[in-house]
Amino acid sequence: MELTPVTRPVLYVTRRLPPAVEARAARDYDARLNPDDHPVDAAEILAGAAGADALLCCPAERLDAALIAALPASIRVIGTFSVGTDHINLDAAQARGIPVVNTPDVLSVATAELAMLLILAAARRAGEGERLVRAGRWTGWAPTQLLGTGVSGRRLGIFGMGRIGRELATMARGFGMAVHYRNRTRLPLDQEAGAVFHETDESFLPVCDVLSLHAPGGPATRHWLNADRIALLPRGAVVVNAGRGTLVDDAALIAALQSGQVGAAGLDVYDGEPRVDAGLLALENVVLLPHLGSATVETRDAMGMKVLDGIDGVIGTKQTAVA
Ligand code: DGY
Repeated sequence: MELTPVTRPVLYVTRRLPPAVEARAARDYDARLNPDDHPVDAAEILAGAAGADALLCCPAERLDAALIAALPASIRVIGTFSVGTDHINLDAAQARGIPVVNTPDVLSVATAELAMLLILAAARRAGEGERLVRAGRWTGWAPTQLLGTGVSGRRLGIFGMGRIGRELATMARGFGMAVHYRNRTRLPLDQEAGAVFHETDESFLPVCDVLSLHAPGGPATRHWLNADRIALLPRGAVVVNAGRGTLVDDAALIAALQSGQVGAAGLDVYDGEPRVDAGLLALENVVLLPHLGSATVETRDAMGMKVLDGIDGVIGTKQTAVA
């Protein structure tokens, strides 16, 4: 019996992926990779997707309705190397009958760790301290130098109590924080684990000594943290965002950081990133990170395997030869 090689399905990958993930993609697909990892625009995505069966994109790309409408008919699935899908017009994908697969679960701990890091860094003025040392301006220990706020015994308010929010709650309890949360629905008692549910912003925000944002992005939550809601926080509250930049009205946050209504902020995500508002860059009381929430070796490997599992599930490709 003669074995006839079959043509492998084509997978277009917009950005460089961890080595083990690219190796699997190249094993199972005719993979079009991006070895120099350059950012891609809509025209390049369409060129790369020409004749491909699957498209694996990242949160840095915007798959809007126009781009999805222009995708070739050969595309059978869109995978995104992220849990968030707000960069993809899901209605447009659904209208074309193209399923979208993402990476839930596997990045919850890493992202919660990053949020905890930002809470501590913002409250304890780690950014200012590091800049002082690096600039060679540190003259030595002093009793009143760079005094911050401890987190133990403080109230943490979590906006969006999904998997990442719940992981953060567990970590924060270890730091002695009391957890409050605002969510579309109240969690079952075992998931709530003693956290206090709030049905309204008016009851929630005044108890947030620290507010951490973990709701999904998109039109429904755009600029949720605006001037009116910031005014409900206790004066000097710490605000952390490791969710989506669009959750925050930057102008309102900057004004509050300048006035002291918000004492400090820790941000990992930005509205319109990678652009960062010049007003934030000018402030000392903000810690700014470049969207590192899921950026651990093990998490990025797991995300890659998860999104390939999802793509495989749609394409159904395990066979490499037929009799
Ligand atoms: C996501 O997965 O949505 C993150 O923002 C990238 O880690």
